Amino acid sequence: MIHGHQQILNRACVTGGAGFIGSHLVGALVAQGVHVRVLDNLSTGREANLRSVRSRIEFVNGSVCDDAALDAGCAGADLVFHLAAYVSAPGSVNEPMACHETNTTGTLRVLDACRRAGVRRIVFASSAAVYGDSEVVPKTEDQPIMPCSVYAQSKAAGEHLLRVWSHCHGLEAVSLRFFNVFGPRQTADSAYAAAIAAFAEGMLRGRRIKIFGDGGQTRDFVPVADVVQCLLCAARWSGPARGDVFNVGLGRSITIRELAAMMASILGVPDNPEFLPPRGGDVRHSLADISSTRSNLGYVPSEGVEPCLRETLAWYQRLIHESGLIQSA
Ligand SMILES: NC(=O)c1ccc[n+]([C@@H]2O[C@H](COP(=O)([O-])OP(=O)(O)OC[C@H]3O[C@@H](n4cnc5c(N)ncnc54)[C@H](O)[C@@H]3O)[C@@H](O)[C@H]2O)c1
Repeated sequence: MIHGHQQILNRACVTGGAGFIGSHLVGALVAQGVHVRVLDNLSTGREANLRSVRSRIEFVNGSVCDDAALDAGCAGADLVFHLAAYVSAPGSVNEPMACHETNTTGTLRVLDACRRAGVRRIVFASSAAVYGDSEVVPKTEDQPIMPCSVYAQSKAAGEHLLRVWSHCHGLEAVSLRFFNVFGPRQTADSAYAAAIAAFAEGMLRGRRIKIFGDGGQTRDFVPVADVVQCLLCAARWSGPARGDVFNVGLGRSITIRELAAMMASILGVPDNPEFLPPRGGDVRHSLADISSTRSNLGYVPSEGVEPCLRETLAWYQRLIHESGLIQSA
């Protein structure tokens, strides 16, 4: 149930606020009059993502692995949105310690900093990766998780640590399992929604795009604005917040083949992908059950992917023209 009295949010710290999702969240918080402090070490994030709000926020250039930076970031905050992470699941296979340090130990450090600073609530960016290669769709929050990478395991550990902190220290805590997020500012080297970034890059450069497998695999692509909506709902949720977990998707999926065709049609380019052998480790179907997110948090998802896909493609077009990589005709 959506509880009656919403929590007040005056001062927030956003770890990973210079990143793709974090910078959209920061923009929304600033627009709502919330005082925002960003803690980011700019490893995959960019200051340019915060250009439009830079004069209205505080920025701490530091790491979630550094207690002093965390104390500077959390001082005076009612709430911490913890989005900073080592974000590559494939990368975590070869760099397990880097992923573990930033994500698992880093999340523990963020929680301890919340305790020191007297923060009331934390909202954590978890991932649908925790479901692993379970064939069950749609994914419900109560189904067993089966992490298949150090990255997925670190997100599962983060969720558990939030529950422990809530239990031991009374910190209010909510974890959100993001599915395949997409939107403007997602870079082509991002490990997620790689399909959208890679297809956009290929199509805009006039190349034939590559699809692994037959293209019949499905994904729940969720616009970044919907993710921001969920983050804000979780921040203001008047429920118990004892480490509760919610899926964040559209609650509908499309095939990779349909996605490519939609993108080609929006851009007015030929739709003739090249099909490559399937990649090992890719799950066939991924779809979020969002009924609990709707009924508890009051989340209202977008109707579909197309409006955000148009906006995202326009953003990639501008980026490529601005960088001079594709000259205007
Ligand atoms: N994009 C998706 O589809 C998706 C899906 C599931 C979960 N997530 C999670 O959402 C969060 C945001 O992801 P994103 O897609 O915006 O990626 P991103 O790489 O754009 O953002 C991550 C941010 O964290 C910062 N960061 C990394 N290590 C840090 C450290 N040690 N200290 C401080 N800052 C650090 C980076 O500089 C970057 O700004 C991550 O926790 C990610 O795991 C994203």
